Parts: sequence; C-alpha cells; structure tokens
Amino acid sequence: MSHVVHRQLHHRYPVAVGGEGIYLIDAQGKRYLDASGGAAVSCLGHQHPEVLAALRAQLERLEYAHTSFFTTAPAEALADELAAHAPGDLKHVYFVSGGSEAIEAALKMARQYFVERGEPQRRHFIARRSSYHGNTLGALAIGGNAWRREPFAPILIESHHIAPCYEYREARAGESAEAYGKRAADELERKILELGAGSVIAFVAETVAGATLGAVPPAPGYFRRIREICERHGVLLILDEVMCGMGRTGTLHACEQEGIAPDLMAVAKGLGGGYMPIGALLVSERIYDAFYKGSGAFQHGHTYIGHPLACAAALAVQRVIQRERLLDNVSARGAQLGKALRARFGSHPHVGDIRGRGLFMGLELVAGRATKKPFDPARRVHARVKSEAFVRGLCVYPMGGTIDGRAGDHVLIAPPFICDAAAIDAIVERLGDAVDAATAAGVGADLIPAEEDSPS
Ligand SMILES: Cc1ncc(COP(=O)(O)O)c(C=O)c1O
Repeated sequence: MSHVVHRQLHHRYPVAVGGEGIYLIDAQGKRYLDASGGAAVSCLGHQHPEVLAALRAQLERLEYAHTSFFTTAPAEALADELAAHAPGDLKHVYFVSGGSEAIEAALKMARQYFVERGEPQRRHFIARRSSYHGNTLGALAIGGNAWRREPFAPILIESHHIAPCYEYREARAGESAEAYGKRAADELERKILELGAGSVIAFVAETVAGATLGAVPPAPGYFRRIREICERHGVLLILDEVMCGMGRTGTLHACEQEGIAPDLMAVAKGLGGGYMPIGALLVSERIYDAFYKGSGAFQHGHTYIGHPLACAAALAVQRVIQRERLLDNVSARGAQLGKALRARFGSHPHVGDIRGRGLFMGLELVAGRATKKPFDPARRVHARVKSEAFVRGLCVYPMGGTIDGRAGDHVLIAPPFICDAAAIDAIVERLGDAVDAATAAGVGADLIPAEEDSPS
C-alpha cells in the first residue's frame, strides 16, 4: 500500500520513471505522448539536456540562500530576462514557487498598494465565474468554479464575480463577436459601480481561460474595454497567465495579442517548464514605485521564493525557447493543430466547439451539437476521455463542470512547444479515437473510472 496521499485515493497510478522529449515512460515501459504537458506545464518536453546541464551547474555552485539575507545570480538574471520581454511597464518581478502562490502574492500586493497610497477603504476583488486561479484559499476565493468553491465557501474571503467572456454559450443570436465582447466587459463597470468605485481593489481574469473553461480566448476588444473600465475607476487589472502565458498561445504573453498590459501579471507553469517549481508575479512601475516611496517592503514572503535552482532552470528553459525560436513553432504547429482538430471534429456529433490559440486548444463536448445541450454530468464524459486517451498512450487534460461548475465537459490540449508535424497528427488521431469511445451511445456512469478532477 502506498503512503502517498494521492489525488484520487481509490485510483492506482502508473509509476512514471522516464521522459524523452514529448514522451513520458512508465515502469512497464509504456510510452505516453504528453499532449497536455501535464497541466500545460512541460513546454520544452522532458529531459531537455540544456536545462539539465544548467540545473547541474547551479547545484554545484549553490543550492539555496534565503532571500532575507542574499540575492543570487540566477534570480537576478531571470528577472532581467522577464523584465526585458514584459508587456507595458511590468519591469519588476516577485518570484514564488507556483501559480497559486503567484495569485496570492498578486492579491496581497494589490491590497497593500492601496494601503501605501492611503486608500485603505479599497477591499473588493472582482473576478469571473467559471475561472480557475489556484487552490490556496485566496486564489480559490476569487476563482469562479462553483464546485471547487463549495466545500470551502464558509472560510473564503469575500469576492465578487461577473460572467466569463464565453462566446460559444453567452453571445446572443446574431450578436457580433465585438458587440458581445463589449457587452461582457461592460458587466465589470456595473459591478464596480454597484460595490462603490472607491472600494474595489482589482479585477482578476485569465487572459485565455484555461483549466475550468477549456482554452477560451477573449472576444475581440474585450480586454481593451476592460482596461478602459479599470482605468476609469482606478481599479487594478490583474491578469492570470499561469496557464496561458509564457509562449503557450504563440506570443510570450497572451495579453500581447489583446493590445493591453495589466498592472500585475501572474505566470508559472511554462516559466520553468516543470524542471523546477516556480512562478512569478510581474509588477508595473507604478505599483513598485508606491512601495518604494512608501513602506519600502512588500509584507509577504515564503521560504523558497527566488530559489536559485528554480530560477536557473527557468532561465535555461526561456533561453532555449528564444534561441530555437520555439514560439514560431507554437504558431505553426498551433495552426496545424487547429486545422486538424477542425477536420477531425468539425462535424462530430458530440463536439460543440473547437477553440483556443497557439498550442492551447480546447474541445467542448456536448450531447447534441445543434442544441449545445451538455452531457448528463453523471456520465462523467470528460473523465472517460482522459481514460480512453491514456489507454491509447496519450495524455490530455479534460475537465467537467465547464458551464456552471457542474454540467459541461471539455478537453484541453497543450502539447510541448517542441512538437513536430507528425506529433500533432498522432495527437489528433488518438484523441479522435478516445472521444469516439467516450461519447459512444450506451457508455454510462457504470463504466466511468475514478479520475483526476482537480486542476493544477
Ligand atoms: C490560470 C491558473 N491560475 C493559477 C493556477 C494555480 O497554479 P498552481 O497549480 O501552480 O498553484 C492554475 C493551475 O492550473 C491556473 O491554470
């Protein structure tokens, strides 16, 4: 019996013993094409020799130094690198160990910013329904997935939610994408006014909604409108690019494609590519200045922030991505993936929507295409897809509760940036078989295996 508290206590997980590029290998020697990079993490694939060498070199120099005593060369170099390529004036970097920690830091930094400025009455955060920002209590509180919040509701900080920008289900018949985007964004202004403009700290959103909504890009103009509304009311914009950022959509930051920059931005996953746990909060000049001219310190910190090994790994990952021009490959392979998904699933009776950007794509599964009616949640179709794909040697990242935390199923596809054309074809072929098997008539709840349901 295992002493590890696994995610699903009744599930027996295969033991992963090796990795090779886009493949993971288990103890039986079975190879899995890692088409989701775990949870959109492994952007460089597995065992990249240059990252391993950078880790070894750092380990031989220095394994750890506490940030209350020292800074280190890899932390400084990685911050320089991130600042050099940041959108807007996000020139300052606060390192953490993952996505939830980056969001926690963003919430606290946003609040302290207003304390520094003499506006302590600001206390509200507004986010979106069906969003995912992490599993720690602050991140869960602003997260908008009803099912994940429910057991912890009595102990979550107060937060407010507006509708997501989710054209497939929320645009009205005949409404243009632009008109829908404006309508969806305008809900933020109404919410700010309802709460009292001077009492709102920030609006928090994933630029491309990932784990819980399934790779949903914003409607055209949505974020430009959001940015205007935030400016008008002195509300900060916090973008969560933990999943969609660091190249996943074809540009280093997803917000570049929206023509805006936030005040604070959380990144993680693709930053270190899974070689070490690392996340970062990118901070704008005006926020940094308020701290610099104010108390001089962010009242926060963890033991492992700015860990030299994590920073060295992330720096190596980012240098390989740049040198090998892998974001060009994300765009090219992303276009191929989109085309192949549309060819395979464009008229599939149980695929209602094919969406995403770059190598960050999603399929929304439905009982009927015309009605957009979701499957009965009891069938756990998403779990079945994951399991059918896994049997076929394919890792994808499906999730249930797409629509309201309970109903709806989607599949997230987020392969490594190093994928070649043959890998994309193999992903779509295996996924096609898995979706056919999982959605076939007569496949019922009794056949659903215990599966992973909690994003991370
Ligand atoms: C958008 C987003 N924010 C935050 C998180 C939390 O990151 P972590 O699991 O590294 O704490 C995730 C994880 O899936 C995410 O997708």
